[in-house]
Amino acid sequence: MNKLLTTLFALSVACATGLALAQTPAATAPAAAPAATAAAGKPATPASPKSLEAKIEMCVGCHGIVGYRASFPEVHRVPKIAGQSAQYIAAALKAYKTGDRKHPTMRGISESLSEQDVADIATYYQDLGKAGRAPLAEKPSRTPNAQVAVMMQKGNCVACHGANLSKAIDPSYPKIAGQHADYLFVALKAYKTDGNPAMGRNNGIMGAIAKQFSNNELKALADYVGSLDGEMETVPESRFHRN
Ligand code: HEC
Ligand code: HEC
Repeated sequence: MNKLLTTLFALSVACATGLALAQTPAATAPAAAPAATAAAGKPATPASPKSLEAKIEMCVGCHGIVGYRASFPEVHRVPKIAGQSAQYIAAALKAYKTGDRKHPTMRGISESLSEQDVADIATYYQDLGKAGRAPLAEKPSRTPNAQVAVMMQKGNCVACHGANLSKAIDPSYPKIAGQHADYLFVALKAYKTDGNPAMGRNNGIMGAIAKQFSNNELKALADYVGSLDGEMETVPESRFHRN
């Protein structure tokens, strides 16, 4: 906000200067210029690049609190992002920014991030907590019940998300094993939601898949996927600040 005001101020000074120069006889123009430069020069000083900690500070209030719940569009835990793939984190932030993902809070937050911010944040979260994590087995830690097994087959989940649902075929696809089940349910329903300006995700791949299932079926899928061992976690804020 400060930066915006500063920019607007600099712009208005620049415009006023342009007008003044246009209206002033040529002889007096050089005298006007240094004053204008001084006024415009101060706000135009390049802002020092934000530190990584300053960028992350915007996120820890939700993603850095174990068990933190959001209430929109229904109460659910905020997604674990530490350990998620960096390319997927970046893709998700971009989708909020372009409006393909409509979640209002995450849209507002992503709009404030530059491409460099997104790249730095995505790498940071991908690596966060990694050192203490045991490698995940190739097979899922639990077998699904018969109903879920049929749905997994119908939706071909492992073809894209990997045999253990944590090793996607493309790094821009998410790890989903062990993500919070209540969040997974909200996310899956979002892919079915069209035409609501505040809710929904516009994604060709997952839209086609989620629309094959009733909400009850999506809930069963989410509960199974969420019950698996995974590579993601919520790393508490206190641990971040101790670093
Ligand atoms: C006010 C709480 C809040 C804050 C602050 C916040 N988030 Fe989120 N974040 C959420 C919620 C809730 C969701 C789930 C949104 C949805 O349903 O699409 C989410 C979703 C995400 C996702 C998508 C996860 C996935 O699995 O698809 C990413 C990535 C993310 N946030 C990163 C960030 C980053 C990076 C920051 C800081 C720059 C941040 N968030 C700040 C609440 C928050
Ligand atoms: C053809 C590839 C493909 C298949 C098959 C597939 N997915 Fe996905 N899935 C994706 C992609 C790509 C995304 C990221 C979409 C986005 O950017 O919002 C995704 C996102 C998700 C998400 C959101 C994760 C998050 O963190 O928000 C869930 C949950 C999910 N898939 C579950 C499933 C389940 C369950 C199945 C099987 C019934 C399945 N997917 C089948 C490619 C696939």
